[in-house]
Formats: sequence, C-alpha cells, structure tokens
Amino acid sequence: MCGIVGYVGAQQAAPIVLEGLVRLEHRGYDSAGLAVLGGSGLRVGKRAGRVRDLAEALPKRFSGRLGVGHTRWATHGPATDANAHPHTDTAGLVAVVHNGILDNASALRAALTDAGVELVSDTDTEVLAHLVERSGADTLEGKVSDALAAVEGTYGLAVVHADFPDRIVVARHGSPLIVGVGEREMFVASDLAALVRHTTTVAHLEDGELATVTATGFTTMRRDLTTTHREAATLDIDPAGYEAGEHASYMRKEIAEQPESAERVLRGRIDERFATAHLGGLGLDPRETRGISRVKVLGCGSAYYVGQMGAALVEELARIPADAEAASEFRYRDPVIEPDTLYVAVSQSGETVDTLLAVQEIRRKGGRVVGLVNVVGSAVARECDGGVYLHAGPEVAVASTKALTTMFLGFALLALQLGRVRDLSIADGRRLIAGLQRIPDQVREILAQEDEYAEVARQLATAESLFFVGRVRGFPVAREGAQKFKEISYRHAEAYQTSELKHGPLALVEPSVPTVAIVPDDELVDRNVAALHEIAARGGPLVVVTHPGVDLGDVPATRLDVPRSERELDPVLLTIPLQLLAYHAALHLGHDIDKPRNLAKSVTVE
Ligand code: AGP
Repeated sequence: MCGIVGYVGAQQAAPIVLEGLVRLEHRGYDSAGLAVLGGSGLRVGKRAGRVRDLAEALPKRFSGRLGVGHTRWATHGPATDANAHPHTDTAGLVAVVHNGILDNASALRAALTDAGVELVSDTDTEVLAHLVERSGADTLEGKVSDALAAVEGTYGLAVVHADFPDRIVVARHGSPLIVGVGEREMFVASDLAALVRHTTTVAHLEDGELATVTATGFTTMRRDLTTTHREAATLDIDPAGYEAGEHASYMRKEIAEQPESAERVLRGRIDERFATAHLGGLGLDPRETRGISRVKVLGCGSAYYVGQMGAALVEELARIPADAEAASEFRYRDPVIEPDTLYVAVSQSGETVDTLLAVQEIRRKGGRVVGLVNVVGSAVARECDGGVYLHAGPEVAVASTKALTTMFLGFALLALQLGRVRDLSIADGRRLIAGLQRIPDQVREILAQEDEYAEVARQLATAESLFFVGRVRGFPVAREGAQKFKEISYRHAEAYQTSELKHGPLALVEPSVPTVAIVPDDELVDRNVAALHEIAARGGPLVVVTHPGVDLGDVPATRLDVPRSERELDPVLLTIPLQLLAYHAALHLGHDIDKPRNLAKSVTVE
C-alpha cells in the first residue's frame, strides 16, 4: 500500500526519491508525489497515476538536496492529483507524506475549516500539514509532536519544513518507518526495498517514536521529545535479491527461487539424531510444549490458506487439535484466549495490519503467540513472544509464491518439533525428515515441467470462470490455487471442497467452466475420482493435479503429475503447478504480473 521515501545529503534528492518510489511500486498505489527543499524553497510535484508519469511531468529544474516522496493508495478521497501526497499548509512551507489512516480526520478537518483554513484535498493527511504549521513550537520536532498529539489513528510519516531546511522529521505509529544510514547522506523509507541500493545499515523506528534525520546522522525520541538512543544496524541482506535480473517479472523469479528458499528454511533446523526439528526462536521448552492443548493459526489471504495446511500438519503429526482462522475476522468476534493454546501468526511481510492486530489482541488477553514471518524485524515479528524466520528472501511480486512454500515448511518443522515431544515415533520423525530433505529437488523437478503447465494455462485463461477443488489436505491447496489464479488473471476462480460440489456448485458446471481438481494419491483418491466423473458427465473440462500412478479411469482430463512426497507434505508440492498455471494465464492475457489491479503487497490498513 502507500510508500514513503526520503533523502537528505549532497546529491540531488528528486532522482533518488523517484527511484525509491519505483522500488515501492509493487506495494500497490494509485498516485505519486514528491517535495524537495532547495534554494528556491519548498517545491511539490504530484499526480494520479504511475511514478513514471510523475517523473515525466516534473519541471527540468526540480533541484534540492533534501526531499520526500510518496506512493498513495486511496483511502480518504479518490485518486486525484489534489489527493496525492505530499500535502502542504496554505503558505507552502510544510510538506507531509503519510502512510496509515487518521481516525479523527473528519473532526480535525471541520475544526480547521471553522478556523478559516481552506482545505484543498479530501485527505486525512492534509490536516497534519496545517497542524504542523499552526504549532507554536520553535523546533520542527516540537511542531510535529504537537500535531501528532491532536491526531488519532495510525501513521508512518515524514515532514519537511522550509524554515528547517537541514532535516526531515519522521514518526511512526502503526505503519513502518526505517531510517537508512549512508556516507554523509541519510535516507528514510517505509520499506527496506526502497533503500537497499543505497544502504543496508538501518534503524527501524518503534511505535511512538520520532526521528530527526539530517545529512550527517539521526536522533530518535519519544513523542514528548525525550531521547530514545536508537542505533542503526547493518542487515545481512543481498541487494540483488530485490532485482528481477534476467527474469521477465518478480513473480517468475520468485517461483524459480523456491528450491533455494526451501533449502534455507530447513537449514540448521533438523536434528537427525532425535528425528526432530529445532526451532530455538519459539522459546518453548519441552514441558511447555507438552502443556499445549490447542494450536490456532492466524493469517490473511494466502498466508491463511497455508495456515490451514499448517494446522492440518500440526494435528496430524502432533495430535494437537489445530485450526486456522482469517486474522482479519479474529478480533471482531471477541475470541476467548486460552492459556494453553499456542497461537501462530503467519505473514510474509510481517506488516499485514489485520494479522498484527490479531497478535496484539492475543497478547493483550495474556495469550502466547509465536510468528512465522519472512521480513526480519517487521512489526508482527517484533510483536510476537517468539518465532521462526522463513528466510525466503525478499518477495516483491504481489502474488506470493516462495514465501508460501517456506511457510509450509516452517509449519512442517513446527509440527515435527511438537510431535516429537509428544507421541510422534522416531520412525515417523525420520520418515518426515527424509521427505522434507527431498522437497527442494522435487520442486526443481516440477519447475522443469513449466512448458507443459504454460500450455494448460493458456487454455484455462480463455474461461471466464473456473473451479478449484480438493478434499482435506487438498482443499487449502485448491483455495490457494484459486487465489493465485484470480489475483493475477482476473478470472473468477472459486475453491470448493470436492465433497461439497453436489451441495450446490455442480449447478454451474458446464463446458465453459473448467475445474482444476487436486487429487493426491491418498485415502480419498477413489472418492475424488468419483467426483471427477460427475464433473465430466456435465461436460466440465478437467485439469487434474495428481500423483504418478493414480488411476483416473476413463475420465477425460488434462493430467499434471507432481512427484509424491510423504502424504503429510504433499500439499506444498501440489501447490507449485498452480502457481505456474496462474502465472502463465496472466502472461497470456497480457496482465501486469507483479502489480495486479486493486491489490497491494502489504495490506497495512484494515
Ligand atoms: C498472496 O498472493 C496475496 N497477495 C495475499 O493474500 C497475501 O498472502 C496476504 O495479503 C497476506 O500477506 P502477508 O503474508 O504479508 O501477511
């Protein structure tokens, strides 16, 4: 969703800020803008549309060595030039870029209007620029602090002021804000992706913190301006991970990276001697583990569907009742938080606000929550009692792929660890470890079949509407397959339990509605094949994702064979062809693969 980039140093700010905004495009946005402070004071350029439209529209001499920029995802008011950030005060001295939502914006707008201020946008953010300007404080930090005292809601924001031309003041409450340290130049951003070309030495602000950023360094403080002494740390990340390189899109690259990311999430976490996993970051000793009576997984979208796969793994391997729930719904049903339940929050970005709020709700009520998170130091990771980093590497495409594979494997490790403290035998532990160790090569095997999947995808892309069906372990696979397909192909793709077809959806099956059926070689194979017959009898075209040797009888179907794993681990391999079906369908339809319409990489507003 919205993104922030800022620069202060010896170079021209505008090109650096614009390049940073391009790197945040994957987050999803509908307008962009920037403000620079130079010899001629504060200058602002902003417009609805792409960053490249903004860059083309800027005057040639848009100079200044300090600047802040923004990509906006419309919340208050439509995507128009006037609503794009930065927002300024009436005199044009102050410019503010803001991620998040101010809950009391209507009241503040009314109060400003009553005071004679002419508001020129529909946004909540504009009030901040006026509040900063109207503060009587004599420092920019004091002015920002005063403005923040009046607002309710969430923010990551950056403020510049023509009277304080050496500094950017940033603040965080619920929306990430990072300060990047360079050589006599400094950066700010809402996402590391915008900074890695310049620096990997960064400080993450905590909620409630402000920072003053000048060309020579930064200082952090609480909102009452007492200092917090936050220091920057150099992150061990490879900036190349943020480049698409030889690949046509980030999604294609991230699909291809799965064998290596699968190796990384498993590395150093398998204990062959005791046939178990070791996830030290969970902070669970064996006695506590034995005391867990239930596992509840919380995530959103695809993370929720992998959470369903993960809950099934825990229940099967550890024999602990487990289920997954959409984090976006969780806190609104006033959930009972049980002291013996282990709550698991799962998120690639670690920024998804619904997941974060669910974690906060659990902790507020005294529950124990651990995270399976990809982005190191992200809000969800920091908020949890313990956790497991997924080591998928940077994921840029909106459609999540490699992060999901690592989430599944993270759950498999968790289930193995819980299981081996309880009743999972050493023989089963060894069987699963062998299965896990085969996964990276099996993913390579599946990816080698890409041409075959591409052909099938082109046929599926012609349908306006599709079903994805599966049972038990196969159902979350079907949900994830439908999710990926609809996300980037914009086709109506709906997931059902195969067993539920007869209870309604079969009415829609006809020659123009293909079904992608997940049919693993498990205890339900006969029932699944029977359902295929019912679909075929109604003329429904079938694509069946299955295992070699599964007898589909005389059902007319396009068959995609996937290597077998241990049964409990099958879902992760069954998911990979569905990623490629979605990818090639979208490619065939000519869609923007990495930036599907209406969607954002990190959903940071409720
Ligand atoms: C996945 O393809 C989707 N873009 C989306 O459902 C995503 O999984 C969801 O928004 C959760 O994101 P997170 O993993 O960063 O929390």
